[in-house]
Amino acid sequence: MANKFYITTAIDYVNAKPHIGHAYEKILTDVLARWNRFSGKDTFFLTGTDENAQKNAQVAKEKNIPTEKFVEDNSKHFEELCKTLNLSNDDFIKTTQERHVKVAQEIFQKIYDSGDIYKKSYAGNYCVGCEAFLTERDLVEGKCPEHNKKPELIEEENYFFKLSKYEDKILKLCSSDNFIVPAGFRKEIVNRIKSDGLKDISVSRPGLEWGIDTPIDKGHKIYVWIDALSNYISALGYPNGAKYKKYWPAEIHVVGKGINWFHSVIWPAILMSAKIPLPKQILVHGYVTFNGKKISKSLGNAIDPNDVVPKYGVDQFRYTMIKEVPFNQDGDFSENSLKDRTNNELANDLGNLLSRTLSLCEKYFDGKLTKQKDDDLFKRLNLEKIEKHISNYELHLALDEIWSFIRSANKYVNDNEPWKNEENREVVLYNLLESLRISSLLLSSFMPETSEKINAQLGIKLGNIKDVKFGIIDKYIVKKGDILFNKIE
Ligand code: ME8
Ligand code: MG
Repeated sequence: MANKFYITTAIDYVNAKPHIGHAYEKILTDVLARWNRFSGKDTFFLTGTDENAQKNAQVAKEKNIPTEKFVEDNSKHFEELCKTLNLSNDDFIKTTQERHVKVAQEIFQKIYDSGDIYKKSYAGNYCVGCEAFLTERDLVEGKCPEHNKKPELIEEENYFFKLSKYEDKILKLCSSDNFIVPAGFRKEIVNRIKSDGLKDISVSRPGLEWGIDTPIDKGHKIYVWIDALSNYISALGYPNGAKYKKYWPAEIHVVGKGINWFHSVIWPAILMSAKIPLPKQILVHGYVTFNGKKISKSLGNAIDPNDVVPKYGVDQFRYTMIKEVPFNQDGDFSENSLKDRTNNELANDLGNLLSRTLSLCEKYFDGKLTKQKDDDLFKRLNLEKIEKHISNYELHLALDEIWSFIRSANKYVNDNEPWKNEENREVVLYNLLESLRISSLLLSSFMPETSEKINAQLGIKLGNIKDVKFGIIDKYIVKKGDILFNKIE
């Protein structure tokens, strides 16, 4: 199946409500999923929640809520976020679901059967934030730099996974050109493997109340990362489900930079041990700050996007996120940038193009226009460049390129003055309608709701990438509707 495309986000911990960083990862992934569908690929987009983590149970306990209830309630906020952001996800996996639990156990059993699991006593620094044992090298002034917390010293008997056995294969995989992208994040992993090597890791925790039992010893829970990573196949119905057979291996796992190691090193090693094909690519993104500040509970800016997005408008939010946070860098999302981009790029450039074009169509042609000759406006669109940017994950540059076309169309109206020049008026307006139709097609992965609104006013249906060419509409019957974007004061 060369024509399939399976893409996933990380699954989020449900120890708190979603924040803007979660929203960013989901939007980025949704744009890629939609673009691939638009380009004719049989696409499957998965997201979900990581529910068996100790950190979830810990917060439930602090709040005096039964863990099951706390987890279930919080997971709903993440499911709701998918709707708020207008995501096109095909499934939503929750790791407490039976369909997941049995697969997590099966994977554990498989790596055990491969002879890659052994038991030993262990003492280590456990960071509950990371849900991982950290080495001295990971710590900065004795603290976990990711969570700014001192890890807990834990001494216990654990089952260990022979990660060391896979060092050569993993180094080779991670060094290859397209497995970890972008290259900066690849180098981090390769350097770490080269300098420290791969050490065996603990894959079970004894005496915990919350989590999935290991199939080999009921006194131990499966280490939450092993459990969580297997969501990518449990959701597809591994090992016999039709979706598993059709969609695995994944084309892309989208993850934030803090969990690159788990996806690029640990997950492939688990799969190698279990003799399951490897995902093709780990796409690593940077972190989003909000109004210039790191998102954190203590700073009180971990605002739930479910509250803020409806206030701004979903496409205004999606657009600003993609423009402000190039995926291979950290970036800031601020209300000011959202306001500026909404007022200028969205309302002035795109919104105005639609409203002025349709006003003229209604005024001079009663909204009815027939096909006219190609007046070379379409030549200003560089589809190849847009496709190249998207295949390099430079989504902000793809948007810039679409915007350069939209600006050309606005200039074309000004230059041709169809309100004055009666002679070629219908040619000019037909060319403008075509440019709006094509812009809306190209924007449909980024701003799906806006594309629908544009098409409703143009009186046509959204198509796919094959329709990105001039002159496929023989007759337009357009009707001006509400303006696309209200300006923000
Ligand atoms: O790590 N900006 O869950 P999580 C951008 N359950 N992305 C961010 C971010 C920010 N400010 N903060 C977090 C976990 N993320 C595990 C994943 S996958 C098998 C298990 C990203 O809720 C983060 O890097 O801490 C990760 O990709 C995702 O949000 C979920 O983070
Ligand atoms: Mg995290």
